[in-house]
Amino acid sequence: MNRRDLLRAPLLLALSKPCCELPVLQPQAYQKRGSSLVIDLRQAAHLKKVGGAALVRDEARQLYLILAQTAPGEFHAWHGACTHGGAPLAFDARHGTALCTSVGHSEFNPQGEVVRGPAPKPVRIFPVQRAGNTLTVQLEAAQ
Ligand code: FES
Repeated sequence: MNRRDLLRAPLLLALSKPCCELPVLQPQAYQKRGSSLVIDLRQAAHLKKVGGAALVRDEARQLYLILAQTAPGEFHAWHGACTHGGAPLAFDARHGTALCTSVGHSEFNPQGEVVRGPAPKPVRIFPVQRAGNTLTVQLEAAQ
């Protein structure tokens, strides 16, 4: 690799990322109730439209997951870390999948299955139910 390639490498790496970091869901938008995470959609602007997604990262409550609206009124939740090397997942709105932000770009469908490697195993998913402006994520029912 020559000097020119070395200088271009970070730019190429940045351009190769298919998606960006997710917006973080603000604490006032959710509550943890027992084994459920209850989200007020009125407080979650990033989830209001199809293709919208947000990250819930709350170390005090041991929460690390991404949420997305994949079709009108249809929501999915994945654990926030890739099963390959633990890199953060983002959401690919074009395919409705969770996508690793590392160079491996593993991809997981709404059932958590690996669509594209190198991830060796599925990522945990969490059932999501919607009732009006409320989303309920079942944390202990993770698969
Ligand atoms: S950490 Fe996700 S593909 Fe390697």
